[in-house]
Amino acid sequence: MTDQHAGEEKSGQLDAKYWSDIKDQGPLAGITLDAGITPEDFQTYGDRLAQRQIEIYRRFASPDLAHGTVVDVGCGMGRISRPFAAVFGKVVGVDINADILVQARQYCGGVENVEFVQGDGLTIPLEDASVDFAYSGGVLQHIPERDVIMNYFLEGMRVLRPGGILNYSFQTWYTSREGGVDGNRVGAQLLASDFESLMAGRPWRLLGAVADPDDPIPHLNVVIEKATDPPRRGQKLRKRKVVDMPVRTGIFEDLASYEDFRKRWASNTPKTRRRVTFWD
Ligand SMILES: C[S@@+](CC[C@H](N)C(=O)[O-])C[C@H]1O[C@@H](n2cnc3c(N)ncnc32)[C@H](O)[C@@H]1O
Repeated sequence: MTDQHAGEEKSGQLDAKYWSDIKDQGPLAGITLDAGITPEDFQTYGDRLAQRQIEIYRRFASPDLAHGTVVDVGCGMGRISRPFAAVFGKVVGVDINADILVQARQYCGGVENVEFVQGDGLTIPLEDASVDFAYSGGVLQHIPERDVIMNYFLEGMRVLRPGGILNYSFQTWYTSREGGVDGNRVGAQLLASDFESLMAGRPWRLLGAVADPDDPIPHLNVVIEKATDPPRRGQKLRKRKVVDMPVRTGIFEDLASYEDFRKRWASNTPKTRRRVTFWD
């Protein structure tokens, strides 16, 4: 597929108010939010973060990663796509931003089982039932339109083969129902009822949800299987326990050049830990 700017026209709000600013911070800082980070530490951080995502897949299923294809939705400059390529059979990175995909292709240069495709900001440009794993991390919480976020769940399930597994992260905290918090940096909030309406009548089985209890900006990862048996009735997410797992803690504290971020993290750490749930 040819890279175009079509996605930027459709979701102009996203690019105008957030992604162009982030790009101006430089390729590494635009992703990690610390202009001081070195390329080596950027890579170490991404490799460890990817490993944590693999642990999430393994916590809820016994997936055959080595023979599977994964789509990385909102892949950025390939920080996760690259280490995923060492574990999964094939990786397809999709992003709205043509410029960042240029950086992704450089960052993953020489890695044969990765390809990058520009998306339109709304859909995943892949065939139905063509991948085994869908992943998205650090993306959905920045999208101010809730319909777009919900559509990425539908799209992830569409491109999965039956039996495939989706693992998306988003924030239930610091988001708002109408979206656009903090000059659009933080997007629309998803509630349990949003998921319940998405899952109703569809063959989606919620395998579990994960949060890092020590992350001052907590994210929720949901892991959903595209089931092969008939749709389940009434999966009540409010009753589901969120599993504690380290996701971001323990992976950056020893990275000397990641100093600014570490300071901001420490100053944000709440005195009382916030339990992340589906209905925060
Ligand atoms: C904070 S970065 C995270 C990148 C990557 N997932 C990582 O962890 O390194 C968010 C990425 O999402 C992309 N993005 C934002 N809105 C998007 C949308 N509607 N569709 C696809 N990608 C989007 C941005 O261009 C950016 O590359």
